[in-house]
Amino acid sequence: MPITIRPLEHDDIPRIMEIEHRCFDSDVWESAEIYGERIDTFGHGNLGFFHGGILIGFLWCELWKREVQYDLARFELSHHPRQFFDPNGTELYISSFAVDPDYRHLLRGKEAFSLGMARMRETHPFESAILLVSAQWHAARTIYTQWGFSEVQRIEGFFTDASGRHHPGILMRTTPR
Ligand SMILES: CC(C)(COP(=O)(O)OP(=O)(O)OC[C@H]1O[C@@H](n2cnc3c(N)ncnc32)[C@H](O)[C@@H]1OP(=O)(O)O)[C@@H](O)C(=O)NCCC(=O)NCCS
Repeated sequence: MPITIRPLEHDDIPRIMEIEHRCFDSDVWESAEIYGERIDTFGHGNLGFFHGGILIGFLWCELWKREVQYDLARFELSHHPRQFFDPNGTELYISSFAVDPDYRHLLRGKEAFSLGMARMRETHPFESAILLVSAQWHAARTIYTQWGFSEVQRIEGFFTDASGRHHPGILMRTTPR
């Protein structure tokens, strides 16, 4: 069965939250309300990966007016997506990315990321991309580095894992095209 990609919809939110809870520690879980706001703000910027009719992963993006350096408060979780959204923005901010562990044998994270970013380029030809990743999310960091992101800054203690340990947040960015 092929993998398909389409923008996420409000009806997908319960399954989105299920995947989020399977993939992330609770310190980074977000609310159904925030997911709904993201869907309403940037309809084509929130992609779901499907196997048959089942949502198996997601890539959430925002479009920002590019600045050389952003105020770090921007990267706080659950900021309102409309706060910084600019439909003509040239920087893609990736707010979340995950693949359900039960389906990674059908769709590896690196393949999902490449497919999602290629789709984003088709619909919104962004010039650069930025994201914040936890230092302990090694597979994600490898995927981003392989795709062309480089570390630009570390934010000490930004993330807390299930055992209460703190981990730095790593800001990664691509060079503008
Ligand atoms: C991030 C995620 C989608 C990656 O999916 P995945 O199927 O596990 O990853 P892949 O199999 O595609 O592996 C990607 C690369 O990371 C490497 N990798 C995996 N685990 C690693 C580790 N612990 N340390 C270093 N590299 C690692 C793999 O070897 C692979 O590189 P290679 O193909 O060159 O060998 C998945 O792990 C996930 O959903 N994680 C939880 C959510 C998360 O961390 N999201 C990132 C938010 S910013």
